Amino acid sequence: MNILDSLKWRYATKKFDTSKKLTQNQLQLLKEAFNLTATSYGLQALNLVVVSNAEIREQLLAYSFRQKQVVEASHLLVICHPTHFDGKDVQTYFNLVQEIRNTPTEVLKPFRDFLINEFDTKSDEEKHLSFSKQAYIALGNLLTVCALEKIDACPMEGFIPAKYDEILGLSEKGLTSVLALPVGFRAEDDFMAKEKKVRKPLDQTIIEIQ
Ligand SMILES: Cc1cc2nc3c(=O)[nH]c(=O)nc-3n(C[C@H](O)[C@H](O)[C@H](O)COP(=O)(O)O)c2cc1C
Repeated sequence: MNILDSLKWRYATKKFDTSKKLTQNQLQLLKEAFNLTATSYGLQALNLVVVSNAEIREQLLAYSFRQKQVVEASHLLVICHPTHFDGKDVQTYFNLVQEIRNTPTEVLKPFRDFLINEFDTKSDEEKHLSFSKQAYIALGNLLTVCALEKIDACPMEGFIPAKYDEILGLSEKGLTSVLALPVGFRAEDDFMAKEKKVRKPLDQTIIEIQ
């Protein structure tokens, strides 16, 4: 399958086969793909929560507009970001850069100090907006990786983050949820699997400036 065939194969899965589960290798691949996502400045102010617990997912259903994918998929992935992030977290990132790359402090210092100031002065709302954008990039990355690996998925904004934060214990971990991604394998009778893809013709979405 070439990449376009994989992207045509994928769709926002509405009904998962509850008897099919991702293998540990498939889960590991998704975790690593998430961790390799590009993030602004490389700060990785994101976490991926992997929910397999059936009872917890049943509780989430009421706050997911009863979208069954949350309980029927093999696993429910939830992309979240920290509710508090400041200059100290930036410093921790630069410590990791130094540990991994051995970059001298004097090379890193000007940029590090600029970023520490940025994150010490930005409002929580600005940070929420910025980290949420990173969450969407991670979602896109995971969707493509899933398509290439023949794993079905349904990108989801349709849930109440405050309730997810409570039920998943994210608030007490200093995290807040942005997106959900049930992953698994499509049910044979998912009517959406057979529907044609609805996309505008390329000449309506691509603008060439020559
Ligand atoms: C950010 C985002 C949020 C979405 N939220 C939901 C959702 O809550 N429930 C759902 O069934 N589909 C959701 N979708 C799926 C879209 O409806 C779907 O991707 C779109 O209709 C195109 O169809 P396709 O992905 O099957 O090609 C979402 C997609 C994106 C990108």
